[in-house]
Amino acid sequence: DHDPLVIFTPSGKRGRFAKGTPVLTAARQLGVDLDSVCGGRGICSKCQVTPSYGEFPKHGVTVRDGALSEWNSVEQRYDDKRGLPKGRRLGCQAQVQGDIVIDVPAESQVHKQVVRKRVEARDITLNPSTKLFYVEVEQPDMHEPSGDLERLVKALRHDWDLPELEADLGLLKTLQPILRKGEWKVTCAVHLGDATSGPRIMHIWPGFYEGTVYGLAVDLGSTTIAGHLCDLATGEVVASSGIMNPQIRFGEDLMSRVSYSMMNPGGADEMTQAVREGMNALFAQVAEEAQIDQNLIVDAVFVCNPVMHHLFLGIDPFELGQAPFALATSDSLSLRGMELGLDLHPSARVYLLPCIAGHVGADAAAVALSEAPDKSEDLVLVVDVGTNAEILLGNKDKVLACSSPTGPAFEGAQISSGQRAAPGAIERVEIDPVTKEPRFRVIGSDLWSDEDGFETVVAETGITGICGSGIIEMVAEMRLAGIVDGPGLIGSPEQTGTTRCFLDGRTYSYLVWEEGDRKITVTNRDIREIQMAKAALYSGARLLMDKFGVDKVDRVVLAGAFGAHISPKHAMVLGMIPDAPLDKVTSAGNAAGTGARIALLNTDARREIEETVHNIHKIETAIEPRFQEHFVNASNIPNAVEPFPILNS
Ligand code: FES
Repeated sequence: DHDPLVIFTPSGKRGRFAKGTPVLTAARQLGVDLDSVCGGRGICSKCQVTPSYGEFPKHGVTVRDGALSEWNSVEQRYDDKRGLPKGRRLGCQAQVQGDIVIDVPAESQVHKQVVRKRVEARDITLNPSTKLFYVEVEQPDMHEPSGDLERLVKALRHDWDLPELEADLGLLKTLQPILRKGEWKVTCAVHLGDATSGPRIMHIWPGFYEGTVYGLAVDLGSTTIAGHLCDLATGEVVASSGIMNPQIRFGEDLMSRVSYSMMNPGGADEMTQAVREGMNALFAQVAEEAQIDQNLIVDAVFVCNPVMHHLFLGIDPFELGQAPFALATSDSLSLRGMELGLDLHPSARVYLLPCIAGHVGADAAAVALSEAPDKSEDLVLVVDVGTNAEILLGNKDKVLACSSPTGPAFEGAQISSGQRAAPGAIERVEIDPVTKEPRFRVIGSDLWSDEDGFETVVAETGITGICGSGIIEMVAEMRLAGIVDGPGLIGSPEQTGTTRCFLDGRTYSYLVWEEGDRKITVTNRDIREIQMAKAALYSGARLLMDKFGVDKVDRVVLAGAFGAHISPKHAMVLGMIPDAPLDKVTSAGNAAGTGARIALLNTDARREIEETVHNIHKIETAIEPRFQEHFVNASNIPNAVEPFPILNS
């Protein structure tokens, strides 16, 4: 007769163990991913498992009642205090008595999967930088001269198999009272180390600490800064918030900020100061939203374009304003939050993703991490639409990247009635091809308006302008309705058959809406601005297709907060993205932000993207003659030379 057979699901790992072996011990020996913070003391309940009783023909075992030890007093105590869900046992208490199948539920796994809603998106496996460990420390003794820290480290290393640990002065100052308050039982948050710093005790609580520690994923954009606060034990986003980048007062776009630093002594420092202050305001905001102490934020990951990267670090971006656009460093960076003046835990670590090139930043690297073109079987074009478009094209064989200066038109800037996406902005448009009358949806109302329904639909906010996605739809609809021609000219009332077209200076404009003396129009200059922006985007993508040696792509992913709002059909009618089946054009939302979250939650992903970035080929659009050629052709709507066969079919 053999020792009992234990099979863990979902891993399928199995082994024979002597009767009386705790389930947690069996799991450890088999390398099954079963969590524990208290080290088997029956305090943390992270080790919950669901034993399965019954017949398991697939596994070749029959499990009878009694295959696990009886419910013991520790489990009873835990159940009385906090309640153990039905069917669950504490893995550190329940002991193997007979053949059994034991399921490890997702929440009991250390490396749990963090759910992403999109089907085509990669999974996130939790593997955070910082974990909690409960230990019982040996008390000092006249005969044992070691310090309290040394005994704490000894306990951590012994119980948790951790390497040598360091501690900052800040921790040392709190260590002695906390050890005594907890009666030598404490919980430690341990950062497991990174490229520039070894493993370190970040924080210590008396007794068993019920709470968790947090990390921040920050997408530092030139216009907005968005932060997601994540629970490092569950991977859950507990608060998200965004603020305007305070650097806007130094210049709307990146190049004006670079020139601000060139023209004004100390200008770069001023901007560094501004962005860090903004960052701290954002941190306070998310902490407040989640109702947590900012001190509990122990890790932060940042993604940004190269100019923001330099300004955030306090490096003058001068070199980025001129060829050959050399970065001070393109590698990833592991720093202390304190060095950057960030209001996080005093020992918090900060990680910046690597930049791809002088024009293609850590934000593009984050998009690559989130969308993983390097793992794709089919050829995917990923476009992050902003004032600069970051473009990636590739599959598992090869990935190319470039950036293209689209300008601020897609954000509604430099458009006569343009505005940011806010209540009152037109965001969806339809123009009747016969009557040429527009219907539209305004942010802040969920109805489509029609010719005689304006007032009821938009009474709350009124119509204040057209946002970026609205202007894209507007121009595409004008093209479809024959109001604007291929080269981009708005027709006269005679040509278009509508008096909505009216002479406006030397060209025609299209009247979208009017109320009293408030008018929303699309001018021919607006059309020009959109033509330039979309041509820049398309020619960047087209150049990468040339370099790849293809003339079509299998699928297109629109990334960026703005990309999420673009209608694929309208983008294609404009000739902003290459021809592809419409159902193969998807939106990834803020992929850069997601990439930051992946790097925050899984430290292995940091190594992975560092490697991926080395293998991405950068294409510099500015020095490619074909770029100009593509740009000229792409200025037409949709394109002067390229057919869009799928779109037209
Ligand atoms: Fe903590 Fe079982 S390991 S309760």
